[in-house]
Amino acid sequence: MKQDPLNEEQFKARELDPGSEEEGSISWQSPSNIALVKYWGKKEPQLPMNASVSFTLSECHTRTTLIYRKKERPDDRMTFKVIFEGKPKPEFHPKIEKFLERILPYLPFLTAFEFEIHTGNSFPHSSGIASSASGMSALALCLVSLERKFDPTLEGERFKRKASFLARLGSGSAARSIEGPLVVWGAHPGIETSSDLYGVPYPYSVHEVFLEYQDTILLVDKGVKQVSSTVGHGLMHGHPFAGARFRQANTHLQELIPVFEGGDLEAFIRIVEKEALSLHGMMLTSDPYFILMRPNTLEIIERVWSFRKDTGSSLCFTLDAGANVHLLYPKAEKETVGRFIETELARYCQNGQFLKDQTGSGALCLG
Ligand code: PMV
Repeated sequence: MKQDPLNEEQFKARELDPGSEEEGSISWQSPSNIALVKYWGKKEPQLPMNASVSFTLSECHTRTTLIYRKKERPDDRMTFKVIFEGKPKPEFHPKIEKFLERILPYLPFLTAFEFEIHTGNSFPHSSGIASSASGMSALALCLVSLERKFDPTLEGERFKRKASFLARLGSGSAARSIEGPLVVWGAHPGIETSSDLYGVPYPYSVHEVFLEYQDTILLVDKGVKQVSSTVGHGLMHGHPFAGARFRQANTHLQELIPVFEGGDLEAFIRIVEKEALSLHGMMLTSDPYFILMRPNTLEIIERVWSFRKDTGSSLCFTLDAGANVHLLYPKAEKETVGRFIETELARYCQNGQFLKDQTGSGALCLG
């Protein structure tokens, strides 16, 4: 891990004059991501207790348009409206307000404008897929693009790092949604360039099998989660196994370095499934304890294991903080696994629903 030249202070915006920039709009599309090594447990200000790595997804994304107008009489308040999939969404207000207030030291011009935030997801609403990673990263990218209008030097790597840094302050995993196909967030001694402050593209050699890895998301339970990620992260404070878990995650990331390079899928499966079950193990053993898996989550896991044993497939699963199952497999197995999902797994999904996705290359500016 190199001592990164960027520190928190350097993300603070210079004294910028929004001058001639009266009004306009900026749009970004930003993807969701699926962690292979999980982030669970944090410290202030939204810094991870261990390093994590994720595949950036391609089809599951949020599109956000930020419309900005200079206030006639500047004040020190955040002034904005949120329109989600064409309809005003006051429920989103508190979360976005908190985010904007949190990032104000880094974008002090925010109070000079009034905003309309138009946003929507490619995946069905309340599918149980966390939209915070794609949503917060899309908004962060729009805001950094606005800053770039007054500071054209904010380009290239600096631009992406600042977007990731801000996205992180909205939702930790959002720090990993700016680039692709593999992103590391959290300082790790084996990964130079890694930082607690922002996500970076995985900097070493990656076997081609991982560049087109498939992720089919089985929608087991589309309801609202019983325990939010925020509460779950909080329960890692004082958790009796916390220290061991943070060490385990960092060891898993170290073990993945030769796996990413050589494409050893057996080792990949062992690490990725262990990570998913360790994450849920932390939930099962926190105080208060809770279970986010559903009976159908376990049915699917058992069937994945049988399928692997019977066919020699490299299909494996991972889980987020919820009941849905992400099935990961190489593109070469797209047809066989696709048939297996249709015939044997779809019945365990709510309304038979699943989403097909694969690794992607990161966010896209739409204008
Ligand atoms: O970004 P948050 O605070 O919603 O936390 C996400 C945590 C997991 O999705 C469970 C793991 C991860 O690394 O994405």
